[in-house]
Amino acid sequence: MEIKKIAVLGAGQMGNGIAHVCAQAGYEVKMRDIEQKFLDKGLAAITKNLERGLKKGRITQEEIDAILGRIEPVLDLGDSVKDADLVIEAIPEIVKLKLETWGEVDKTAPEHAILASNTSSISITQMAAVTNRPEKFIGMHFFNPVPVMGLVEIIKGQATSDETVKVIEDVSAKIGKETVLVNEAPGFAVNRLLVPALNEAVFVIQEGIATVEDMDKAIKLGLNWPMGPLTLMDFVGLDTALYISDYFVDEFKDSKYRAPALLRKMVRAGWLGRKSGRGFYDYSGDEPKPIRF
Ligand code: 3HC
Repeated sequence: MEIKKIAVLGAGQMGNGIAHVCAQAGYEVKMRDIEQKFLDKGLAAITKNLERGLKKGRITQEEIDAILGRIEPVLDLGDSVKDADLVIEAIPEIVKLKLETWGEVDKTAPEHAILASNTSSISITQMAAVTNRPEKFIGMHFFNPVPVMGLVEIIKGQATSDETVKVIEDVSAKIGKETVLVNEAPGFAVNRLLVPALNEAVFVIQEGIATVEDMDKAIKLGLNWPMGPLTLMDFVGLDTALYISDYFVDEFKDSKYRAPALLRKMVRAGWLGRKSGRGFYDYSGDEPKPIRF
């Protein structure tokens, strides 16, 4: 089966990154969001990220125009998926919203279309079960920033067919990503490790063991991570990390995944990281300033 048209649901950080790499690989993309302002913001981010390459001479203005020309912003869900060969969903991590959306998509998307979720933790099998094509349902977990990160974690739900896996491996290769194939489990493979690790860094702050900048410095230089864990927590979003931690506790019934009280308190205060201007760092100035706890 050849994929030509891709619908990307959600124009946020992940959705616009996915639309960007798909269009860059030559696919016709419809990027859907619920309000024009989200579509405008998503398109502006794609343009800005493509222009990074322009300054470095890696891409021409004509190529950028062609890529942007392959992305059609769409508000209506039905319109976005009605002629898609592949639907990639990157909407907020709210189980009810995902299940409702997939139920709708299943009614309108062509019978042959493959349905892929970019969820960071929610059950692929649970989402597949609200459609009439669970064998064509799969997890396609991208990493932020999508144009830069080299991996797609492919997740096989209980009913996902080998043929669906093969198509998604081919699409991932075409958009320049390496893949790993994992069986469904909460957090799959990457977030199973990442989220407890980031939480542990927050426990270190909560317990007064190190300052924010020293914890980040220690892990950056001591373990050669590109970003320290608290910078990465701000980058991922504190609300996302908290959501995944709570989901792990619910699913595994194991308190080892519990979120630090400090993380919950910060989320309640609206300190969500970079996107809200404050998390473990204050982003209001020219340089991020570490917060004293
Ligand atoms: N779009 C396109 N290109 C981008 C970009 C973006 N949004 N952000 C950065 N880049 C490019 C830059 O132009 C630069 O390109 P070049 O090397 O060709 O010149 C390159 O990426 C490196 O960027 P910078 O020099 O500005 O900065 P850094 O060297 O610090 O790299 C980083 C930035 C790539 C974000 C790096 O810090 C990094 O890899 N951090 C870790 C990111 C990470 O762990 N992501 C995964 C998060 S977990 C997740 O997403 C899963 C979810 O389920 C929770």
